[in-house]
Amino acid sequence: MREGSYVTDALIASDIDAYLHSHAHKSLLRFITCGSVDDGKSTLIGRLLYDSKTIFEDQLEALEADSKRVGTQGQNIDFALLVDGLAAEREQGITIDVAYRFFSTEKRKFIVADTPGHEQYTRNMVTGASTADLAVILIDARKGVLTQTRRHSYLCHLIGIRHLVLAVNKMDLVGYDQPTYDAIVADYAAFAESIGIAAFTALPISGFAGDNITTLSPNTPWYAGPTLIEHLETVPLEVEAEQAKPFRMAVQWVNRPNLDFRGFAGMIASGRVAPGDKIRVLPSGRTSSIERIVTADGDLPHAVAGQSVTLTFADEIDCSRGDVIAAAGSPPQTADQFEATIVWMAEEPLLPGRALWLKSATRTVSATVQAPKHAVDVNTMAKLSVKTLGLNDIGVAEVYTDRDIAFEPYADGHDSINKELGGFILIDKITNATVAAGMINFALRRSQNVHWQAIDITREAHARIKGQNPKLLWFTGLSGSGKSTIANLVEKKLHALGRHSFLLDGDNIRHGLNKDLDFSDAGRIENIRRVGEVAKLMTDAGLIVLTAFISPFRVERALVRNMLPAGEFIEVFVDTPLDVAEARDVKGLYAKARSGTLKNFTGIDSPYEAPVTPEIRIDTTRESPEAAAERIVEHVMGVWSYDL
Ligand code: ADX
Repeated sequence: MREGSYVTDALIASDIDAYLHSHAHKSLLRFITCGSVDDGKSTLIGRLLYDSKTIFEDQLEALEADSKRVGTQGQNIDFALLVDGLAAEREQGITIDVAYRFFSTEKRKFIVADTPGHEQYTRNMVTGASTADLAVILIDARKGVLTQTRRHSYLCHLIGIRHLVLAVNKMDLVGYDQPTYDAIVADYAAFAESIGIAAFTALPISGFAGDNITTLSPNTPWYAGPTLIEHLETVPLEVEAEQAKPFRMAVQWVNRPNLDFRGFAGMIASGRVAPGDKIRVLPSGRTSSIERIVTADGDLPHAVAGQSVTLTFADEIDCSRGDVIAAAGSPPQTADQFEATIVWMAEEPLLPGRALWLKSATRTVSATVQAPKHAVDVNTMAKLSVKTLGLNDIGVAEVYTDRDIAFEPYADGHDSINKELGGFILIDKITNATVAAGMINFALRRSQNVHWQAIDITREAHARIKGQNPKLLWFTGLSGSGKSTIANLVEKKLHALGRHSFLLDGDNIRHGLNKDLDFSDAGRIENIRRVGEVAKLMTDAGLIVLTAFISPFRVERALVRNMLPAGEFIEVFVDTPLDVAEARDVKGLYAKARSGTLKNFTGIDSPYEAPVTPEIRIDTTRESPEAAAERIVEHVMGVWSYDL
């Protein structure tokens, strides 16, 4: 491991802010570099930093000393040492995280996200690429277009990076041979066309020797330019294209310091806005007009995409964090069902139907991804028939959100990308890890043609006529734990008390409504989702509903809990240890599972996630079914009289 703090990784966000501020008059280009391991990415980035004199003096000295120590020949500095600062990376010989570095020239300032080239790290690549205007795709001139090159180009195109640069690197190692260069460019052009990349800029370079980076190289007289830096300095910026689109701003937070002021803060995603402009708030659709554009430096006469502002409205209309403020005349659409392209980035494969957090712009909602329609083979672009998506897989699937969101299709024809309202990430509800990035293709027509019908007899009216408050008693536990037995006793007691109830039992429902479902994880998820919906309808009808399902997963139990008003869902954990349930083996299923004739059996080769904080826990080794049932009825009646 090396010592010294000369690496730019040490620079933190506040440094970046200060730096950007001191170059405030210059435009900012964000770009990424991608390539295979050993394509010379780090050397190229080091070269850009060095040539733009962004490396601080002390870093430079350390670098020169270090290059000598590791035995780099000649007067060349090993630029890779500058960038590959992290010990772990150097030991593995690969770059593992997205690292942001900045530099500037006379004309422009730059942030470069250095994304890993290793096959496993699609995730970091997507993260780094999501805000980029341009991507430099590095190719080793000795190797030509590789699988990685195709994969990265496809991802860049998918994510909507407008400008692609094909940097054919290490030209010094092929004797600056034009035919070699031409063949690589032709090869890439054929591939690019096949996936719909309309244009790219190719350059012959050497990051190590400095050819065609800042000045045109005498070694490639057959290449007329531009240099890499010239190209980076002049390529049109994304934000300029965004300003020409209709106005949209997602509300980051509502600024309400006192009763006289209510402002909506956020960054303008597209278009421009001025006081007096008519606006519409999505998804509610309410309209008003802009009164003021407030910033720390005073009110503005207008503001454009890329600026962070606080807007005030002429009318007091509802608008909260996550809502989108848009030009009233051309608002985005709203829907709760979409087809989307999804890049799966987690080790654990997608579980179709499992509830996840979907974060789009500043809004987070609960969502489920259905079984993929197909996956894409990034080498051949063929559509593959798949049941799920694994790490690095890209596929197309339907996504359902639990409420309407404002959105725009990610790719709106050729030149227009709506990253802000068309892109989203998916987050695991338990681990909080980002598991996928997605791009909305379109809303499913049914989501826009099916409306919510208002019904006059409300759930309150249904409950009132029965003289009770609806409840859902959700029994969960292993097979043979005693759920059905206890639930049955509870229902008898409620019935005797004159309560209107209904018991939904796992085995019975699986004979009818859920006949089509198996015991795979996805089958169980769908089982619980349907039972949750049915139980919810029954509580709407004013009933006290009891359900007896293994319901082995926390996320689905929480999903059902969240469908109901607070306090209505009562989780009853029938906590019978596996060995006790197995010893009882009333249905003989544990014996079958142990002998291997029954697969995916809960507790044996399929997991059971015990509730952490159930409302009621029953230890059936200590409490009889009768006593347990009595206690549950007391709990329900207690909650009940409290409610009344
Ligand atoms: S759940 O996991 O989807 O909630 P559910 O409660 O509907 O399961 O059904 C469980 C019942 O199905 C068990 O009590 C048992 O009788 C039967 N069964 C059949 N195969 C399995 C299996 N592989 N795992 C668990 N239960 C099974």
